[in-house]
Amino acid sequence: MPRRTRSTATDLPEVGPWARDKLDRLRSYLSAYTTILSKQAWAKTVYIDAFAAAGRAALRATEPDEQAKLPIVDDAQALLDGSPRVALDIEPPFNQYVFIEQSPARLALLRELEREYAGRRQIRVHEGDCNEYLTKHVAALGLKKKGWRGVVFLDPYGMQVPWSTIEALAKTGALEVFINFPLGMAIQRLLKTSASFNEAERRKLDTYFGDPNWFDVVYQRQNADMFGEVKTTKGKDAARKLLGWYRARLKRHFGHVSPGYLVKNSVGGDLYYLLFAGPNSTGAKIASHVLGGGIRV
Ligand SMILES: C[S@@+](CC[C@H](N)C(=O)[O-])C[C@H]1O[C@@H](n2cnc3c(N)ncnc32)[C@H](O)[C@@H]1O
Repeated sequence: MPRRTRSTATDLPEVGPWARDKLDRLRSYLSAYTTILSKQAWAKTVYIDAFAAAGRAALRATEPDEQAKLPIVDDAQALLDGSPRVALDIEPPFNQYVFIEQSPARLALLRELEREYAGRRQIRVHEGDCNEYLTKHVAALGLKKKGWRGVVFLDPYGMQVPWSTIEALAKTGALEVFINFPLGMAIQRLLKTSASFNEAERRKLDTYFGDPNWFDVVYQRQNADMFGEVKTTKGKDAARKLLGWYRARLKRHFGHVSPGYLVKNSVGGDLYYLLFAGPNSTGAKIASHVLGGGIRV
């Protein structure tokens, strides 16, 4: 629940009002997850926030009345609980929380959060690149055999989740992922109408998708003209096709995938899709319900 308080927000990330939509859906899913898993005596649960940020964010009032709509605790700054706090406040709680972040200022705030919840929640804060930590460390823990099950929230600003990370998490057989798929922002910016890519751009897309076939999903080669020149154009509905293709790949690796839930900004622009993928059909049913209220693809 966002509040208006006097706290200074200089080190906090700024988010638009639409972040609430994302966090409400995450909260609904996590709450159903721990309710179900807490009834399984054999299971221990972990929540991994791979792009944890600071635990709280300053709410940017891009909609004129947005701040005015919030209940006033003190004055000045409207704050929104970020994904770490959302997860920490879930009842019943997870057995373990892991928050990964690479910004030193935000890490300091996460360590304050660790102190605030000491004795009530089991928290581990990890400094550094989440992809390295997830693929090298978490993937090698043998979670499934040890009775651990968990949710990994992958909420980057852009294309910072390479396919190799997704693949490593799927292989654990114990982890589900909630992914911010930045189709409206970072990905579309790279997929130009002209299909002209420099090497770095192409490498970035190959790494993100883990398969060079994204090109054929997005672009169509037309028949050669009388001079033998082949034109390549961006296909109609390229974004929808790319989302479908990415979802199919998630399904192949995890077993289950949800529909894409489109998060828009306050002027109706597409930002990103939220997606769930996991090894369990019950989890997938719940996630599909939680993420099914937006645009289904
Ligand atoms: C969109 S914010 C996350 C917001 C957070 N999930 C929330 O809802 O409160 C992304 C965060 O990821 C951090 N970050 C970016 N790349 C990272 C990486 N490779 N490993 C760990 N953290 C990273 C950034 O510093 C930033 O704080």
